[in-house]
Amino acid sequence: ANTVDDALEALRAGDPVLVHDAADREGETDLIYHADSVTPDAVSRLRNDAGGLVCVAFDHETAEAFDLPFYTDEVDHPATADHELGYDERSSFSLTVNHRDTYTGITDKDRSTTIQALGAAAATPDNTAFADEFRVPGHVHLLKAAPDLLAQREGHTELGVALAEAADLSPAIVVCEMLDDETGEALSPVDARSYADRHEFCYLEGSDVLERLA
Ligand code: 5RP
Ligand code: CA
Ligand code: ZN
Ligand code: ZN
Repeated sequence: ANTVDDALEALRAGDPVLVHDAADREGETDLIYHADSVTPDAVSRLRNDAGGLVCVAFDHETAEAFDLPFYTDEVDHPATADHELGYDERSSFSLTVNHRDTYTGITDKDRSTTIQALGAAAATPDNTAFADEFRVPGHVHLLKAAPDLLAQREGHTELGVALAEAADLSPAIVVCEMLDDETGEALSPVDARSYADRHEFCYLEGSDVLERLA
């Protein structure tokens, strides 16, 4: 079924959930896993079935514990000066990383290694020497949630982290946009829901999450 409780249960069980943000925002549906649950097969699903950018979102505090900045704050290039987004005040992009045990970083196995290690790091930030474990740049995009989470921003970054927290999981969540293979556009909510139904995955509207968790 498609309730927030079903989504929390699915994330705990290692299954993906789909979340459409809002028609007046990106209008995108992300395929979302908890970082701990990601395997090479899950990365394969993310790139084949979703097709967007594979990112790991941390809550603000965890990102700060690892000294991870917002990309636009840290990179001193004129193109970052005025980061105009049509749908939000700012991007949640932080750095990109590979786990140091990866080779190129892009294979399903390598991205799975990086993502699982990010999940483990988020569970015990105090015991993690981030720079000893990960190298920058890499092939997994990190996202950093707003300090006040859904009170401040209603992106997939915050929606995903809020779901992880409500599920009592560490605040590390993988998100990837569902794209339409025919048109190249964002997959429509109708098609995203039918993909979810076909695979018995939970599909949520951002508003469902906001009503329950914001
Ligand atoms: C990175 C993105 C995605 O939309 C992702 O969902 C994170 O962004 P946001 O929090 O703004 O929704 O653009 O691939
Ligand atoms: Ca595809
Ligand atoms: Zn998004
Ligand atoms: Zn996006």
